[in-house]
Amino acid sequence: MNRNFKTDSREDLIRLLSLTDPNEIEQLFKAALDVKYENCGRKVYYRGLIEFSNICAKDCYYCGIRKSNKNVDRYRMDEEEIVKEALWAREAGYGSIVIQGGELQSPVLTDFIEKVLIRIKKESDRELGITLSLGEQTEETYRRWFEAGAHRYLLRIESSNPELYSQLHPADKLHSHQTRIECLKRLRRCGYQVGTGVMIGLPGQTVEDLADDLLFFRDMDIDMIGMGPFIPHHQTPMGEYEKDFDGPAQLTLALKMIAVTRLFLKDVNIAAATALQAIEHNGREQGVSAGANIVMPNLTETKYRAGYQLYDNKPCLDENSQMCRGCLDKRIVSVGETVGYGEWGDSPHFRKRTARQQ
Ligand code: 5AD
Ligand code: FES
Repeated sequence: MNRNFKTDSREDLIRLLSLTDPNEIEQLFKAALDVKYENCGRKVYYRGLIEFSNICAKDCYYCGIRKSNKNVDRYRMDEEEIVKEALWAREAGYGSIVIQGGELQSPVLTDFIEKVLIRIKKESDRELGITLSLGEQTEETYRRWFEAGAHRYLLRIESSNPELYSQLHPADKLHSHQTRIECLKRLRRCGYQVGTGVMIGLPGQTVEDLADDLLFFRDMDIDMIGMGPFIPHHQTPMGEYEKDFDGPAQLTLALKMIAVTRLFLKDVNIAAATALQAIEHNGREQGVSAGANIVMPNLTETKYRAGYQLYDNKPCLDENSQMCRGCLDKRIVSVGETVGYGEWGDSPHFRKRTARQQ
């Protein structure tokens, strides 16, 4: 490994995240790509994303589907719709899916998701891998969903800095940083492959914060990372940052963060978030070329897509699943990688971690 790109200390991480010279940044991406090939191979894995509901109890200041945004038409797919999209994913050769939705806690939701999971597992002959991204829940709920067939869970910490976190969320029990960390531990105890992540380029966030986010990922022994640039949404309290928004700078910072994560953690799965594509049409491919190895094609039925805008400029709102598939394949091949069709594509980190424990 080129010593210029060492990640032995917090100072190293800060230095890499602070690079400004385009040539050096290019070199950083190349170094990250080498580490990816070495640890994860040359394949990109797809996770078909089903945004099953935009009903949310939370009121995060940055998020377009926050509870207080009255301009959103709220929807919840029924069981048939979710299962249909999941089976479409299997037909399309996607090894696994993600079921994501607004954050809600209720016995009805717990039962509903459990039922959906059991059906998808059964009707896909247990072939489809299932990731959930449904926010903070009790350990009991996490356990029931795990036993029903989900095996990965994404819960972004948004920022590992409690101070910054408190600036992004209302100061109440529903938005507790501590609870979020506790939920990551619950997920681990239940046996999930655990994913987390942060928003990059938040107002008030420093490169030191981003370096600390990386240390947080390491200390929590995280298996998967999903992170993307913060993009203001005009119907939210943080929409006011729209006027200062510098897309290219946000994109570069996000790509540097992906690359440094790859150099530092090596064998985790890293998703190229759709938010990258909201800034530049080939943002996700740039993410793959900076060290990401997961892409999440949107499977959500077109009629619901407009209702799931977490940030402005979300791409593919008029597209359908078939169109997104064809378009993505070309894009992945264009950056010299292949798609791991029909495979779960578990994080090598998770495999090693569980092998250690046996
Ligand atoms: N910009 C970028 N990402 C956002 N998210 C929510 N709102 C925004 C925004 N304005 C991300 C959060 C959340 C994930 C589902 O979407 O990180 O965890
Ligand atoms: Fe919290 Fe949407 S309201 S992420």
